[in-house]
Amino acid sequence: MTNPNLLILPGDGIGPEVMAEVRRIIDWFGAKRGLAFDVSEDLVGGAAYDAHGTPLTDATMEKAQEADAVLLGAVGGPKYDVLDFSVKPERGLLRLRKEMDLFANLRPAQCFDALADFSSLKRDVVAGLDIMIVRELTSGIYFGEPRGIIHEGNERVGINTQRYTESEIERVARSAFELARRRGNKVCSMEKANVMESGVLWREVVTKIGETEYPDVELSHMYADAGAMQLCRWPKQFDVIVTDNLFGDLLSDAAAMLTGSLGMLPSASLGAPMANGRPKALYEPVHGSAPDIAGQGKANPIACILSFAMALRYSFDQGAEADRLEAAVEKVLADGVRTADLMQSDGGSPVSTSGMGDAVLAALD
Ligand code: NAI
Ligand code: MG
Repeated sequence: MTNPNLLILPGDGIGPEVMAEVRRIIDWFGAKRGLAFDVSEDLVGGAAYDAHGTPLTDATMEKAQEADAVLLGAVGGPKYDVLDFSVKPERGLLRLRKEMDLFANLRPAQCFDALADFSSLKRDVVAGLDIMIVRELTSGIYFGEPRGIIHEGNERVGINTQRYTESEIERVARSAFELARRRGNKVCSMEKANVMESGVLWREVVTKIGETEYPDVELSHMYADAGAMQLCRWPKQFDVIVTDNLFGDLLSDAAAMLTGSLGMLPSASLGAPMANGRPKALYEPVHGSAPDIAGQGKANPIACILSFAMALRYSFDQGAEADRLEAAVEKVLADGVRTADLMQSDGGSPVSTSGMGDAVLAALD
């Protein structure tokens, strides 16, 4: 049997720094858990532009299409701000998402007990929180036609159109139900069926998929505005939330902040199943290339490490190994190991990026 293959695209700024720690962890799983991957590394973003004059070469795009999973660091930086829009580092990432047709964006909001006091909400409300927001990523109001600014009489009108086909709703609903089966077995679907026809269709289609294909998963519905309130009031009532592109953009950012630092937040974007049954998949930390701290060994590698844990769980069916890695992160935090972004002002001395990597590896051992 051949090993699963993992394409690593470290990118720019702190991307390569945090990815170096993930490489050590991948090696640990190979050496200690018999979980070997064929890892290849390539360029994306500004790094690819510097080498090839484009933020993503066709050859790298092809490798990404063939990979069992892609793990990306971050792209961008002030050095590239002067570039034409067509070759900006972000275009590399957008091309990956578009050509891999990654329609389900998974944003977990998970609160490690040791960091519960970092939240702007009370410890009770967030400690132990573990929810997943599934945001539709390739359709909806950001893409629907007609769009634009038109003239009507003597004033201008800005237009965007919310548009969802049944099959677009079906496929993201299936992603959410599949995830729920591996987690708490509950899906809450959010739209505004009270005022939007696209929401009426959304609710109808999600209900049909639930009843016919996932009768074992508990399904509920909520208007997205009420959902936003419930996310702040008592987020632990949720397991998986599935919602459209616009509401998902807002709800996932709000949910992320329940838990503290940007340096802690992983994400995944999934597409249709490939021939081997695995979904097309891109895993990446939510944060960017952090030019303000790049090259100083200050970056927190946990967001990228937890992105690899998501890959273990959702691409490689290694839920127990993902739990092992998350438990190691939890232990390190409980022991008080902190990168600078996780410290209160009086908090003692922070560890470096590699110091955090060392601590996670020690906890895994
Ligand atoms: P950013 O996420 O890079 O940084 C925001 C703040 O959070 C900074 O103060 C940074 O030091 C801190 N931070 C971020 N990640 C951290 C980590 N792992 N450990 C410790 N501190 C961390 O967002 P910003 O500054 O808006 O963007 C910087 C560059 O990154 C821009 O070129 C932007 O276009 C790009 N970017 C790329 C993304 C991606 O690759 N997916 C996402 C967001 C921004
Ligand atoms: Mg956003």
